[in-house]
Order: sequence, then C-alpha cells, then structure tokens
Amino acid sequence: MQPNKIAVTAAPIAPVLAERWSPRSFNRDYILSQDEALSILEAGRWAPSSNNIQPWRFAYISKTDPLHKEICEKGLTGFNQAWAPDASALIVVASIINLPDGREHTGRKYDAGLAASLMLVQAQELGLHTHHIGGIVRDEIVKTLKLDENHEVLVVIAVGKIAPAEQLEGPAYEREIAPRVRHTLDEIMLHGKP
Ligand SMILES: Cc1cc2nc3c(=O)[nH]c(=O)nc-3n(C[C@H](O)[C@H](O)[C@H](O)COP(=O)(O)O)c2cc1C
Repeated sequence: MQPNKIAVTAAPIAPVLAERWSPRSFNRDYILSQDEALSILEAGRWAPSSNNIQPWRFAYISKTDPLHKEICEKGLTGFNQAWAPDASALIVVASIINLPDGREHTGRKYDAGLAASLMLVQAQELGLHTHHIGGIVRDEIVKTLKLDENHEVLVVIAVGKIAPAEQLEGPAYEREIAPRVRHTLDEIMLHGKP
C-alpha cells in the first residue's frame, strides 16, 4: 500500500507541491523514457539564477548505465546504498565553483538548489517521485564522472516510479509510512505573517 503523504497545509497550495514527497520505495523495473528525462532536466535548465550565470551542471545516470551501480556502491553513504539502487535514474547536481574571471561564485549553491527544486516539481508533474541524497561521497562521484577541479558535487537526486511501501523492511519501512512533518508557519516566519 502507498501511504498518504499529501501535505496538510494551512492554505491551499498547488497539488503538485502538496503531493510531492521523498519515497525510498521505487519500482525496480521502471526505466524513465527519454521524454521524461529531458523534461526533468529542461525544468532545471530554466531555473532562475543570479546574473543568469546558470552555475548548475547535471549528470543524468539511467539504471541502464553502468555508472548507476558504481555511484550507488561508491558514491552514496550507508543507508542510501540500500534503497537508491531501485531508482530508475540518478541525477547528480554539481556546480561550477569559479567564474571565467577566476572569482569564486559564492551564490552557486543557492542557484543549483533552485534548479534541483524545479526538477523535483517537474518529475512530480510527470507522475514520478524524487528523493534527494545529501549522504554522498563527493570524491568518488567526482572520480566516477571525471569532473575537473572547478566542479563541486552538491547532491544526488533519485528519480523513479513509486512502489508499495512493503517493498522496504524494518526502519526503512517505518520511515516510508511515517507522517510528513514541518515546522508551523509561526515557527519559521521572521516578520509579517499574513
Ligand atoms: C539536500 C538534501 C539532502 C538529503 N539527503 C538525504 C539522504 O542522504 N538520505 C535520505 O534518505 N534522505 C535524504 N533527504 C531527504 C529528506 O530527509 C526529506 O526531504 C525530508 O525528510 C522531508 O521529507 P519529504 O521530502 O518527503 O517531504 C535529503 C533531502 C535534501 C533536501
């Protein structure tokens, strides 16, 4: 069974946002179509960025690509190695560090995060699910993708079709069916709550 993970919101939000959540149970047989993959990456490409620098760089790694196994085995930490292999694809989100004039691009992570969040929304709109993975071994991913020194690996996004929670066991199953929680608006507003 799939748990009900729809966000309980204080005001209506777009269904695609309310329905997005991060499962760990993915359909092991599903392969993303080329159209689905392109659509997700295009959503990231069209993110806003400071001075339109677009510092993000993406690596798209389908389950059909031998690098999928390599990244799961060497590029992810502990628990993530158990569930991420089921995802249809991994998107590595990296950023360039220095601008062509040699200055460090200090806003790169914010910009790349925006691109990542738009990819999540686009995937959800396509009926897919995503799960961010910050538990990564950056050096291994850099090695696997043969990235140069000017690239900083930020996160890996697992993408796929959701599968029943029962595919998982133990604590992973418990987490899959646990309710989603957030701070209240009161707790996060600094000023001017409507
Ligand atoms: C930057 C980032 C890193 C994350 N790293 C991991 C991770 O390494 N492993 C994992 O299982 N979940 C990871 N998550 C998923 C979060 O735990 C999850 O988004 C959060 O609990 C909220 O749940 P929801 O996305 O279902 O609303 C990460 C999420 C983000 C945004």
